[in-house]
Amino acid sequence: MICSAPGKVFLFGEHAVVYGRHAVVSAINLRTFVKIERHPDFVIESPIGTTGLDAITHPYVTEAIHLIQEIHPIKGCRFHITSEIPVSSGLGSSAAVTVAVIGATNEEFNIGLGRDEIYELARKVEKRVQGIASGTDPFVSTFGGAYQIPEREKIDIKGLNIIIIYTGQESNTKKMVEKVAELRNRFPDIIEPIFDAIDQISLRGIQAIKTGDLDEINFLFGMNQGLLKSIGVSSESIDAIITDVERHGKRGKLTGAGGGGSVITLGSKEDYKMLKSLYPDTFLVSLENEGLKIHG
Ligand code: MEV
Repeated sequence: MICSAPGKVFLFGEHAVVYGRHAVVSAINLRTFVKIERHPDFVIESPIGTTGLDAITHPYVTEAIHLIQEIHPIKGCRFHITSEIPVSSGLGSSAAVTVAVIGATNEEFNIGLGRDEIYELARKVEKRVQGIASGTDPFVSTFGGAYQIPEREKIDIKGLNIIIIYTGQESNTKKMVEKVAELRNRFPDIIEPIFDAIDQISLRGIQAIKTGDLDEINFLFGMNQGLLKSIGVSSESIDAIITDVERHGKRGKLTGAGGGGSVITLGSKEDYKMLKSLYPDTFLVSLENEGLKIHG
């Protein structure tokens, strides 16, 4: 049995979304695939390595199995994981592997979970591993599509050509979310208004997406990035890419938890080719409408 689930991209509002502010997020056409086979023990084979249940090397898969075992007794199985999404790239590879593992196990052992239950389990896994989380990544990976968060209202972003540039530097979501939480505890009077400003950027961004105003979206990317930098989640490699993007007349922002990971900008096929010549890990992605997929 093979299942897959998509990665995601935050267009606006990461981090602030953890504190109830608006965000815009979309599933993308890069997927993680999980093949499950019956086996006497647990074996997890992934681009990171081969282990048994191992909360250090494979925290998301291991927690997913622990939670599944609470509802269905499973003694062992082998997972073979491959991914089009670079690991820790800010593009939702953790949520995608979690959703695909739960989906594949559900199918293989006829557990009978529906999509909502798969999402709830994936959300629990994220909370256990990450501590603080908005639930956005597992939601988008389970259901696909583009959304205004927290309402989970669908938005049409088909007209946007989103270019993603991976810094090559890992983004550690748990570490970044904790860093922002500490900053908020220390300076609530400063950080809360920054979250409010990000909230307004997301709302304006939604209007700009609806009217197809690409200049405004670009401009709002720049403002969102400035605020993300002010809360300490940018990095030297992100800033260097953004400087290059701006040199070519565009704006960009980090996407996801930051501290590494990826930068997004809008652009044409030519912009994509130019950025790819500078940064080989550059992707031109499109909206993915399908979430968890059962390949059989
Ligand atoms: C991570 O992809 C997005 C964050 O906003 C965390 C979360 O929403 O749980 C940084």
